[in-house]
Amino acid sequence: MHFVADPATSQNPYEYYEDGALLVGSDGKVKAIGPASTIISSNYQAQVIDYSGRLIMPGFIDSHVHYPQTEMIGSFGQQLLEWLNTYTFPTEKQFSDKTYAKGVAKTFLNELMRNGTTTALVFGTVHPQSVDALFEEAQTRNMRIIAGKVMMDRNAPSWLLDTPATSYADSKALIQRWHKNGRALYAVTPRFAPTSTAAQLTEAGRLLQEYPDVYMHTHLSENKGEIAWVQELFPSSNGYLDVYNSFGLSRKRSVYAHGVHLRDDEFASLAQTQSAVAFCPTSNLFLGSGLFDLQKAEDYGVHVGLGTDVGAGTSFSALQTMNEAYKVIQLHKAYAEDPSTREPLTALKAYYLATLGAAKALDLDNKIGSFKVGNEADFIVVNPNATDLLKFRMQRATSIVDKLFVLQTLGDDRAIEKTYLMGKRQTVTTGTTGGYNY
Ligand code: GUN
Ligand code: ZN
Repeated sequence: MHFVADPATSQNPYEYYEDGALLVGSDGKVKAIGPASTIISSNYQAQVIDYSGRLIMPGFIDSHVHYPQTEMIGSFGQQLLEWLNTYTFPTEKQFSDKTYAKGVAKTFLNELMRNGTTTALVFGTVHPQSVDALFEEAQTRNMRIIAGKVMMDRNAPSWLLDTPATSYADSKALIQRWHKNGRALYAVTPRFAPTSTAAQLTEAGRLLQEYPDVYMHTHLSENKGEIAWVQELFPSSNGYLDVYNSFGLSRKRSVYAHGVHLRDDEFASLAQTQSAVAFCPTSNLFLGSGLFDLQKAEDYGVHVGLGTDVGAGTSFSALQTMNEAYKVIQLHKAYAEDPSTREPLTALKAYYLATLGAAKALDLDNKIGSFKVGNEADFIVVNPNATDLLKFRMQRATSIVDKLFVLQTLGDDRAIEKTYLMGKRQTVTTGTTGGYNY
């Protein structure tokens, strides 16, 4: 099963073969999909692996996540700005030690594999070696990862700050080392407007000018206190997004995490610049940030992908992220002035946001996110009956769409039986800590 179009706009957004086969070439790319009998009989020389009773789908894409925050998921009691100061900055300090960073990178990538996430757009820390550690680990697995070094030169502890000049030079060196090196891609990563001076945002814009095909990855309009603070720090700006726009940071391959409190003109601006938003429901609920308006993003034509935002997000599982996304949309209806204008989030749209929709948001739909012939064969084998409750409930689900909805509601890493990268099965041993001692 995979998507060929957006379920919001297409009558036939997916292809599903009840007894299907995926043919992968020796180059790790998709050669064909179709009914198993046809694919097998016309490729008699191919090795056949039988996953009867399972569902084969493209791997999930996480449009926004922080690998250094793996060790601080579930930190109690604070909203964004206090949460950053109390938990996040002390945690990120440790990533000046590359050996430490490598251990966490291993654990992080193991979690992605366990949860069927085959590509992610990832924040490192301010330390360039944190990004080397992640890319090196991803490269040993041949995994498509987009990541960048955080740029931050104010409003954080001194031991986490860079400068406009060092952030430019360090990011540039990382771009030259990693961008398009194997499957790695680089994202220029200012943390968010409050932790960068105008001088630093200017340098970020300069990097994007010099390297037009890299990504830009930051946070936007997550929390009301944060938005007010941005207005104080950039008093002449016309709102939060305008700060980024004025430094040339909004364009294709610019990904803004959250966008919970965007104004209508800001949605219009994101659409116009072809920027994307990462919808991170578990994080938005956990930090009490608010409810992202997916319907409005869709109305304005803004590209959206689903993000876990671990460690403010509470799960690595795309299934659990869809589960929470559904609830966010339910609450929109509950609080709408006119609830009849609000539609529930369908299972099809949810899975789309975690696969082809995210690939489009990341400008990677010609490589990943679907089983289009020639795409990289990153895929998962899902067991819809992985737990007793799933098995019991699935017996009462009739259509594939019903089954997908039950799977996102009840499923998690236990339902992800196998994860493949470029046609190669990945193995993660339970209890793997990646050499990192707890
Ligand atoms: N805004 C700035 N930094 C962060 C972060 O680490 N997590 C989240 N959720 N929001 C941020
Ligand atoms: Zn984040």
